Amino acid sequence: MNNRSLISITDYSKEELLELIKLADYFEHNPEPELLKNKIIATLFFEPSTRTRLSFETAIQRLGGRIIGFTDASTSSVQKGESLRDTITNVSLYADLIVMRSPLEGAARFANEVSHVPIINAGDGANQHPTQCMLDLFSIMKTQGTLENLNIALVGDLKYGRTTHSLVQAMSNFNATFFLVSPNELRLPSSLIQSIKDAHLNYYEMTSLEEAIPLVDVLYMTRIQRERFADPLEYEKVKNSYVLKNYMLDNSKDNLKVMHPLPRVNEISIDVDDNLKAYYFQQALNGVFMREAILAHVLDLK
Ligand code: CP
Repeated sequence: MNNRSLISITDYSKEELLELIKLADYFEHNPEPELLKNKIIATLFFEPSTRTRLSFETAIQRLGGRIIGFTDASTSSVQKGESLRDTITNVSLYADLIVMRSPLEGAARFANEVSHVPIINAGDGANQHPTQCMLDLFSIMKTQGTLENLNIALVGDLKYGRTTHSLVQAMSNFNATFFLVSPNELRLPSSLIQSIKDAHLNYYEMTSLEEAIPLVDVLYMTRIQRERFADPLEYEKVKNSYVLKNYMLDNSKDNLKVMHPLPRVNEISIDVDDNLKAYYFQQALNGVFMREAILAHVLDLK
């Protein structure tokens, strides 16, 4: 088991979160094309991805590292019935670090038990997405100038949304007030509500997006994720619960930023894209700098 691995956002203290934000800012302004020279990074994606995989691979290449891996487990020996244990054990003999995404909750933690090299969790089912969370924190810091005492609305699929799970845990370090906007069927799991209570923070569970918008500094939209529903009819009932349109931002705070981990389906209308409060594409770009920081930190190079 490797202690430098990043499996859950709770692996990092408040001080480490702030140090990584500083390091991401450093990489944004100071390219280091030799830092990962002679390092081989494996990217193993057992579940589809655009931003996480490509921003990791961009970060690795910007730092001079080399990449092995797969984007589709059906092209690997998993297709022949090879176990996750054997796959990770073997790849960890080739690479200096493994970035992995899995549809299975707990897969990254299990991989860390058998790997010879550090593991970075690039999303495990509905559980955690710590590197997304780190780029979200970086984006909030860049746009608000602080992480402290902010009002943040988390909107959409709070039950299965791993990005919101990680973000609630991280922002609980910074005296956030949470506006938890979801259909009743997709409320934040009780364990995370309990963690907000344990941190003595204010939170409001609500179904109305319109009520939350004027109150918040960060409007964090999420997709209702069809792939997480066992019953397609349950998905059909909630799939169009929230659609943010440009006019709905008219009474929002001047400092409001609209964020989204992406991909979006229809929960943010494209007429929001030209609003100066729309930040989701810049947020995705911030992922490159933050993932450079995480790679350097996990490999103990910075
Ligand atoms: N935000 C995020 O995880 O996007 P991808 O699924 O495209 O990697």
